[in-house]
Amino acid sequence: MNNTIISFDRHIMDEQRRYGGRGDFSVILSQIIFAAKVVAAQVAHAGLIEDILGRTGNKNVQGEEVQKLDVYANNMFINALNYIGKVCVMASEEDPDMIMIPEEYPKGEYVVMFDPLDGSTNIDVNISIGTIFSIYRRVTQTGGDGTLEDCLQPGKKLFGAGYIVYGSSTILVYSTGNGVNGFILDPSVGEFVLAHPNITIPPRGTIYSTNEGNYPYWKPGTRTYIDHLKSETNILKKPYTSRYVGSLVADFHRNLLKGGIFLYPEDTKDPKKPTGKLRLLYEANPLAFIAEQAGGAASTGYERIMDIQPTALHQRVPLILGSRDDVKEYEDFARKNL
Ligand code: AHG
Ligand code: MN
Ligand code: MN
Repeated sequence: MNNTIISFDRHIMDEQRRYGGRGDFSVILSQIIFAAKVVAAQVAHAGLIEDILGRTGNKNVQGEEVQKLDVYANNMFINALNYIGKVCVMASEEDPDMIMIPEEYPKGEYVVMFDPLDGSTNIDVNISIGTIFSIYRRVTQTGGDGTLEDCLQPGKKLFGAGYIVYGSSTILVYSTGNGVNGFILDPSVGEFVLAHPNITIPPRGTIYSTNEGNYPYWKPGTRTYIDHLKSETNILKKPYTSRYVGSLVADFHRNLLKGGIFLYPEDTKDPKKPTGKLRLLYEANPLAFIAEQAGGAASTGYERIMDIQPTALHQRVPLILGSRDDVKEYEDFARKNL
């Protein structure tokens, strides 16, 4: 029996040998892993050791209640990355503006953007939450601070992306453009070990994930599509299974492994943001990258997520994500029933 345990560090080294790649990128990934381990420990003990549960009483740039763990996780990822000299600028769902590298630290060639805590409303009720991260090469001249131009890159320029799910176990899934691999944190040794090599998403699933409370606000195409999934006339000849926990990373991770479609379509609930709730830079692009690397797809319903040229740090998009044939079928409905 081959009892070789492939640690994350070993996997990164193998990838570097196989595909080339710079040590800088590996340092960034290792720091993200370090921060994830610290956040995982806090999530596991949330509310026991420190007063880390509950709300801060503030609202973020999204106008959403900020949870204490949001702030804790955000600070952890920022402080794990800002001093290493590999990053020129960061951006976070929790910060209104770009996060500049402090004067005293050298600037590097990479841009890191993240949703430090995804699924915040589930923190206090012990449902899986996560972190989503994106890594780009800078496009401006090397050496100085990164700029907005470095942050506003389309998803197709991603150098690497991934997510961590803090759930019954802590899972890390990432890709650097050579397929998707999943790791489980072994708490007894404090290491992420390879658990899901070369993840591929089934081209057609049997699961759909969406907040049906928004049904009255959806466009006709979306309503017709969801009604179709719940009928016996769809390709399965029986209704799809509905699974939705309200944490994008957890809903996506299940569908990535089992097949299925996640939908946060545009809705007219808030006239100010007809384009849906999820953030292009921090949620849609990194998960679209993972989905496509695993053979799946990610669309707004009208265009490929990773083709969108971002125009603002906190831009929102409709997100249709998962099994390739399911996403394609949604697009057919959306375009037909505009
Ligand atoms: P975040 O906690 O980072 O703001 O993300 C929450 C997102 C996403 O995780 C989830 O899919 C979605 O919000 C749930 O939204 P609804 O509660 O409107 O269904
Ligand atoms: Mn989120
Ligand atoms: Mn968040």
